[in-house]
Amino acid sequence: MTNIYLIGYMASGKSTAGQKLANKLNYKFIDLDKFIESEYGKTIPQIFAEKGESEFRAYEHNMLKKIIEMNNVVIACGGGTPCFYNNIDLMNNTGVTVYIKMSVDALTSRLKTAKEERPLIKNKTEEELKKFIARQLEIREDFYHKAQYLVKGKDLNVDELVEFIKSQIETKKV
Ligand code: S3P
Repeated sequence: MTNIYLIGYMASGKSTAGQKLANKLNYKFIDLDKFIESEYGKTIPQIFAEKGESEFRAYEHNMLKKIIEMNNVVIACGGGTPCFYNNIDLMNNTGVTVYIKMSVDALTSRLKTAKEERPLIKNKTEEELKKFIARQLEIREDFYHKAQYLVKGKDLNVDELVEFIKSQIETKKV
């Protein structure tokens, strides 16, 4: 059950860091959104449009439960994953959780050119986007801060993260 869960807001770099982390640790990498898309045969925007957010959250929870059964996997979660059902507890109980933290300004600047595939922010102007991120982050951080570790997403050094995670896995023997 030595899984590693990367959590954090949309565009905080979970997938990029997760992929590198998995390569270096020789773990399998799973991007939860992509996993949902391939299991359900629909894209995330399609699921949101056809079923709505609450159904998406149920899918997300079910897929997470499936992944939890696997071993030695690095999982890049969706930005909302830790904030619904008991997902954050499930993750904390089955592996190492890392919150990749980024400022509202950095997230806004990353997301303003990466909105289209993200239904929650798709139609927002830059000003609306910044306010939305600030408001949502305030609520979501209650969940994000339940992660066992916090790293700064800006200029994240994945090599250092790998060494750190390795030492944690060793001491925890999860
Ligand atoms: C969401 C984040 C997305 C995706 C969905 C909802 C969120 O994942 O799961 O659009 O609620 O923050 P990324 O964080 O990979 O963009």
